[in-house]
Amino acid sequence: MIWPSEAIWEAVSPLLPGFTVEVLPEIDSTNTELMRRARAGQLEPVLLVAEQQTAGRGRLGRGWVSQAGDSLTFSLGMPLAPKDWSGLSLAVGVSLAESLDPRVRLKWPNDLWLDDRKLAGVLIETATFGDGRDGGRYAVVGVGINIAPRDAAGLSTPPACLHELLPGVTAGEALGRVAAPLVLAVQAFETFGYGPFQARFNARDALRERAVALSDGTAGTAHGTTERGALLVHTAAGMKTVASSEVSVRPAV
Ligand code: BTN
Repeated sequence: MIWPSEAIWEAVSPLLPGFTVEVLPEIDSTNTELMRRARAGQLEPVLLVAEQQTAGRGRLGRGWVSQAGDSLTFSLGMPLAPKDWSGLSLAVGVSLAESLDPRVRLKWPNDLWLDDRKLAGVLIETATFGDGRDGGRYAVVGVGINIAPRDAAGLSTPPACLHELLPGVTAGEALGRVAAPLVLAVQAFETFGYGPFQARFNARDALRERAVALSDGTAGTAHGTTERGALLVHTAAGMKTVASSEVSVRPAV
């Protein structure tokens, strides 16, 4: 497989001193690996790409199953100290969607959708270091993007893939499109928070003005995100802000 490691490094390292790009043929999970390294005191900024993951992880304890070449799997790890962490996964989604295609929509809080099917997912984890008092943590932003068609068996949302938008695109080419803008977006989030991403998220919001059902039993109509990235849902009991990513939301059928 061909990876644009050099070009990404050249674009990113002036903005992020010490940054490296690493491609591994196989690892359990790029997120697990960067969290392991952070706990062992390795806190340098890195883009870790896996051609194949043997134990890829998704949100809410789910897995991320993929075959080499059919999926782009990577994690960006870097120390981060935003004043407010809320909305980081949404900012990441905005950056990825804008780098890929105008038709890509965002499904709160972490997914990229194409025609109500899942194109990509984001899993963010953080590790505290030092005494943890300055609010700084090592952030691991894990991204999985379906490149080629995949089996829908066992998936809660039917899959979409990038070949539907960019026929023949490789995982390496997709990485080349998204990686440098993603680093910039994470740095912008650190400085300015979710605010500058709010209108951009809302413009691509897959749930906007749609009937939704929440896993906690709430039903209502989705109305975009707040300035801190919570989902606004108009329910029978009034407007509710859904902040917890432990709650899952789906379009009501
Ligand atoms: C989700 O949709 O629930 C999130 C999926 C995130 C998958 C990516 S693949 C690269 C990184 N390593 C992992 O184990 N997970 C993320």
